[in-house]
Amino acid sequence: MQLINTITEMQALAQNTFPGKSIGFVPTMGFLHQGHLSLVERSVSECDLTVVSIFVNPAQFGANEDLDSYPRDMDRDLKLLEPLGVDYVFFPSNGMMYPSGYKTWVEVRELSDVLCGASRPGHFVGVATVVLKLVNLVKPTYMYMGEKDFQQVTVLQTMLRDLNLSTRIVPCPIIRDGNGLALSSRNTYLSPTDYPKALSLSRCITRAQELASSGERLSENILRELNILLQNSGAKPDYISIVDSRSLSPQSVVDCNSRLILAAFVGKTRLIDNGRVLLDN
Ligand code: PAF
Repeated sequence: MQLINTITEMQALAQNTFPGKSIGFVPTMGFLHQGHLSLVERSVSECDLTVVSIFVNPAQFGANEDLDSYPRDMDRDLKLLEPLGVDYVFFPSNGMMYPSGYKTWVEVRELSDVLCGASRPGHFVGVATVVLKLVNLVKPTYMYMGEKDFQQVTVLQTMLRDLNLSTRIVPCPIIRDGNGLALSSRNTYLSPTDYPKALSLSRCITRAQELASSGERLSENILRELNILLQNSGAKPDYISIVDSRSLSPQSVVDCNSRLILAAFVGKTRLIDNGRVLLDN
């Protein structure tokens, strides 16, 4: 496993070593968990070479968000990646990614303004910008991304399509702990009393699926029950919506493209989750 910490080294690899090979890329902000590792394992099994990036991207955090306290542990991350067969770990500094005088930002309109984008203005501009820069440096064939960040995957697929980039996103299933909590680096913030409240997010998804499978098709009826479920658990809903998974537009009637997507605060920690509403028979 080779460590790359300069942009020129990364560019030289992409130019000299990568052509003719399938390159799998897993962009991360570090503090890796089994969700990230499942993306890495898939990339290693499907591609000739795998690159993992570790960069806590300041541009995607709002002024009052957790940039300073975001968990970081590079030694631990490298120990987790080494046995998986990763070829390169790219960890640029802030100054390399955003040198002084930096002025260029990428905006994927409409998709970036709803759901998490409405609660976190500017977040998806930061995500799209850093991912475009990383894709431009690594030039991957495939980018492996978790569906926990469902809106992020949709925003980035649209960006790659609109900018005629050949990299394809491989969306990968959400990894959950034994009680259903979607794995996230931010779960480390949860206290023992927060944890049961955090489980209410995945309970919303299973309850929506139960309601839909028993014949309920009206989103407002499903959402009314889920808001009560969240509030009774002690979690504070940020948003909860049933959307068309392709456009992220709200749906009033559930169909086979419906996705339940939600964010809630558990104490000070903001958690997100999502899942299909109608499951295949
Ligand atoms: O999902 C993440 O960890 C980040 O948003 C990403 C894609 C690495 C960009 O900073």
